[in-house]
Amino acid sequence: MNYRVPRTRKEIFETLIRGLQRLEYRGYDSAGVAIDGNNNEVKERHIQLVKKRGNVKALDEELYKQDSMDLKVEFETHFGIAHTRWATHGVPNAVNSHPQRSDKGNEFVVIHNGIITNYKDLRKFLESKGYEFESETDTETIAKLIKYVFDNRETEDITFSTLVERVIQQLEGAFALVFKSIHYPGEAVATRRGSPLLIGVRSKYKLSTEQIPVLYRTRNIENVKNICKTRMKRLDSSACLHAVGDKAVEFFFASDASAIIEHTNRVIFLEDDDIAAVADGKLSIHRVKRSASDDPSRAIQTLQMELQQIMKGNFSAFMQKEIFEQPESVFNTMRGRVNFETNTVLLGGLKDHLKEIRRCRRLIVIGCGTSYHAAVATRQVLEELTELPVMVELASDFLDRNTPVFRDDVCFFISQSGETADTLLALRYCKDRRALTVGVTNTVGSSISRETDCGVHINAGPEIGVASTKAYTSQFISLVMFGLMMSEDRISLQDRRREIIRGLRSLPGLIKEVLSLDEKIHDLALELYTQRSLLVMGRGYNYATCLEGALKIKEITYMHSEGILAGELKHGPLALIDKQMPVIMVIMKDPCFAKCQNALQQVTARQGRPIILCSKDDTESSKFAYKAIALPTTVDCLQGVLSVIPLQLLSFHLAVLRGYDVDFPRNLAKSVTVE
Ligand code: G6P
Repeated sequence: MNYRVPRTRKEIFETLIRGLQRLEYRGYDSAGVAIDGNNNEVKERHIQLVKKRGNVKALDEELYKQDSMDLKVEFETHFGIAHTRWATHGVPNAVNSHPQRSDKGNEFVVIHNGIITNYKDLRKFLESKGYEFESETDTETIAKLIKYVFDNRETEDITFSTLVERVIQQLEGAFALVFKSIHYPGEAVATRRGSPLLIGVRSKYKLSTEQIPVLYRTRNIENVKNICKTRMKRLDSSACLHAVGDKAVEFFFASDASAIIEHTNRVIFLEDDDIAAVADGKLSIHRVKRSASDDPSRAIQTLQMELQQIMKGNFSAFMQKEIFEQPESVFNTMRGRVNFETNTVLLGGLKDHLKEIRRCRRLIVIGCGTSYHAAVATRQVLEELTELPVMVELASDFLDRNTPVFRDDVCFFISQSGETADTLLALRYCKDRRALTVGVTNTVGSSISRETDCGVHINAGPEIGVASTKAYTSQFISLVMFGLMMSEDRISLQDRRREIIRGLRSLPGLIKEVLSLDEKIHDLALELYTQRSLLVMGRGYNYATCLEGALKIKEITYMHSEGILAGELKHGPLALIDKQMPVIMVIMKDPCFAKCQNALQQVTARQGRPIILCSKDDTESSKFAYKAIALPTTVDCLQGVLSVIPLQLLSFHLAVLRGYDVDFPRNLAKSVTVE
């Protein structure tokens, strides 16, 4: 949204489309925009919607096909919205994609991330009032609801943000919303609950404030059930942000900073239920007061993210780039935290809570997908170093079970994005039970990092490929560092700590060595890519490697793949073994070595053809291997960082050979902000 910065329609398109392209990594199936229409006389009173199933490129082409659009027409104030949709309610098609509209005249349009759980009731109500629906989405209810509130307004001068405020009182579920309306030309209103939303601010001129005060309304709960009738106390409208002297200023609303970082690195993160409105070049934020401790302002923060960090460089896919970044990303995770001279580890985000953590009675480590695997991978070393019981939990299952949580538990939430809905809900569940909550995320300012009591930022840099790679190894290292910090004064553990810290120091170099096996792994992929299924088997420290390897294969190659605990082999999976079934076995020189050898014998005895990932100095296992990939070795509890990399590379090559889009696998999203 620009104010006193004249922009042509072409520039507006380009800004919107570029923003969507930057978010492509999240996964989506359709896209759309809403901009002011072409009729010069009623320029601000006509909204044009363009929506398309498929990718952003297709939408971009469609925009230029619209002959009614004069690309050169210039706007002094303009507000356009754009969205990529990942279907939750209703199939992917143009009608279901966003923006959704209130009526055929596009009086109100809205874009939405999240899920409205009570949309059926709302839709029934609105249909009973004569509103006709055209899509199968939950979002359309919001567009119709705002029109209903507008149509039933008690005064003519009701503001756009008041309408939105009334709308969100009726919504249940999660949302980040941005609205545009022909009744409020050149104005924008955005709000969130449970889904991320930020505002970028760009101005060459001095801003009126760096801390934008929040205007609180007290709600007069007359009759909340009576739809939309709740009255609010009036607001003082002087608290707002603008460029001093009404100079040119532009505001960008986005769910993710990467969409706007090329325009500005100055952002405001909205909190749940904040309503942000831009009118006349001024941004104001207001909300209904929840508690006395509500933060009185939102600061403008400066992000350190650089655009080139999110570009692909010389690699063919973001995922490939991210796999090859691991020597640096792992180093960045440790930078300034591990002191290799004094054998100490300091995680700044946890130090003030260390005493409390040391007193706890158990650790619960919670995540989804790859982040959960990082918890599985480090469970044993955490048990060893903290001498505490450690539970690892999939967030969804943890919630399904209503797992008992106590005040003296410490709960870790592992999430690359910091926005995964299941993990976020598990966090709120644990907070309600007064446990200490710790976030381990890769995204500063994300919901999980803000809502936890303390945390560790894994510093892996932006991860764009949907299949997580470098975040896994950095989460792994972060959890090991936590264990090391906890055990600093345990005399009996000092030798072990020194061994692990030495291991950490040499990891970046060893990762480089593993990456140099890329060609060999490519050759292996050439042999395997026509297979339908691939088993990955191991145990102990490397069970998580198998789960994570199989997940990578599933996610991007669409082959069936399973991570199997070798200890369970004879309890079922052995039945799958025959001459045809490829089995990757992870056999490392660690306390499970002998048991893994047994599993290997059982596989070869059934004419299986094991592909072995083994230690460089292991001459035994390779004798029985159909193919062997020898890896450098490190301390047993860190070996998983090295052994997962060949599986990341293998899945990448398999996907390329099978002709799939590595970075945007079908049906998957990078950041799953719905339950
Ligand atoms: C999605 C992604 C996975 C990721 C999982 C957890 O399913 O596709 O790659 O591992 O979410 O994401 P998080 O951001 O919480 O680590």
